[in-house]
Amino acid sequence: MKTLSRNIQLLSCLVCLFLSISFSSTAQNSTEHWRPAVHFSPTRNWTNDPNGLIFFKGYYHLFFQHNPQGNDWGNMSWGHARTKDLLHWEELPLAIPHGEEYIFSGCVVWDKDHVSGLGDPKKELLVAIYTADYPNKKQEQHLAYSNDEGLTWKKYDHNPILDIQLLNFRDPNIIWHEASKQYVMSIAKPLERSVQFYGSKNLLKWDLLSEFSNQGELEMIWECPSLVELPIEGREKESKWVLFNSSQGVQKGFVGMQYFVGEFNGKTFTNENSSETKLFVDFGKDFYAAIPFYNTPAKAVLWLAWALSWQYAKEQPTYPWKGQMSSVRKLSLVDTQEGLRLKQLFQPDFTSMEPTFQAKDISISKPKMLNGFKMLQGKSYVIDMEVEETNADRWGLKWQSVDNPQEYTLVAFDEIKKQWFIDRSHSGKILSPGFFKVDSAPWVEGRSRHMRVWVDHSMLELLAQDGTVAISSLRFPVSAKENLSIFSDKGKLDLKQITIWEVK
Ligand code: FRU
Repeated sequence: MKTLSRNIQLLSCLVCLFLSISFSSTAQNSTEHWRPAVHFSPTRNWTNDPNGLIFFKGYYHLFFQHNPQGNDWGNMSWGHARTKDLLHWEELPLAIPHGEEYIFSGCVVWDKDHVSGLGDPKKELLVAIYTADYPNKKQEQHLAYSNDEGLTWKKYDHNPILDIQLLNFRDPNIIWHEASKQYVMSIAKPLERSVQFYGSKNLLKWDLLSEFSNQGELEMIWECPSLVELPIEGREKESKWVLFNSSQGVQKGFVGMQYFVGEFNGKTFTNENSSETKLFVDFGKDFYAAIPFYNTPAKAVLWLAWALSWQYAKEQPTYPWKGQMSSVRKLSLVDTQEGLRLKQLFQPDFTSMEPTFQAKDISISKPKMLNGFKMLQGKSYVIDMEVEETNADRWGLKWQSVDNPQEYTLVAFDEIKKQWFIDRSHSGKILSPGFFKVDSAPWVEGRSRHMRVWVDHSMLELLAQDGTVAISSLRFPVSAKENLSIFSDKGKLDLKQITIWEVK
């Protein structure tokens, strides 16, 4: 009798479970049509910042801020994915789960010489250093290590490794600084708008080197700093140090990223521009918290960002995931009339691949669809286009809904205002006030009218004028079918070439 009633109890529990699962999955429809095909997004649940980017044993690893239990920010832990070719991401089991502490942003380094003395000395060692957040109490820096290429992690027994008793002190990012033969950590004191630098020989004991503050964009808090040495194009063997951080972007009230160009001597970073100079990484609203990959082949500086904005992240209308990563981009500096500026190039390098479509010397005076090219739903494309000459007011690319012509997105150049722009004001869902405002970036003098756009479902990334202009913007069209055309307003547009790669 007892067993029978226990069985009935068990059965009714299972029925409840089944009902609740099927109810919750029908309660919200899956929105796979908005999921990027080749940019990373977690299969399920929330993500924000990329963490612990590292190239190791043939794989680019991406750890990411993740809520393993829900589609909103919370339970912060590190998710994990990896790729060999920067296009096909393989999601792996949760890497570092939260405990009493939330696992906030941080980095991973390869402890090649086992200087930390942690783990199995016979196996390769990866060391993660991240912020442990004790909600409303404090933020301190913790360490975890892995002997199995980042699959499983052991939290260090003697955490914290760095604690200055602050409620806000976060996002450590570490490089190996060859000249001073030490690891150097950049870390933010967000409310003070400052970045501190610490040095260490063994990854466990960290000494304060210096502090950089009160320069550039100061409106919003500073987060996710990183320090890298970038080559200067066309000047062989010359380089400069660049300090990045996430803060307010170009548009007031919206987050973004800024950078400072200068020198780092193993102790102090010196900004070579005036403290009022503001340099922005990307003029869109959806590029935040980017950090570079550690240990990349040929020392190329590659990075990626969280492609979303804190101002409307909660409103991203996707299910069962929320948040995605930008493309991987290769960084360098270039000379411009205004000084050294950041250049970003999509990775992998599409120009060495066989294009899906190419046309040369075409002339346009009214919107024109490309003969011989049809955008296929569910595919991702990189479009490269160079203008020979034009007398149009505006020209560029237009994605337009087949069912509803009122729904369209423009990625274009305004000759009157001399500005690049992405206009998503008629693209479909408007997520929050200000979301519809056009994202625009100034023309860089002395470079050609060249644009390269990567479209991947809800993601649009423009790298114009050889990568010296960047605008990244999300959009959520209501109707799925779209046509792509080239347009030219009030004038003629002569194109040198247009080349399209389908990104498989
Ligand atoms: C930046 C950030 C970081 C923090 C993390 C928490 O987007 O606020 O400063 O570590 O997100 O998820």
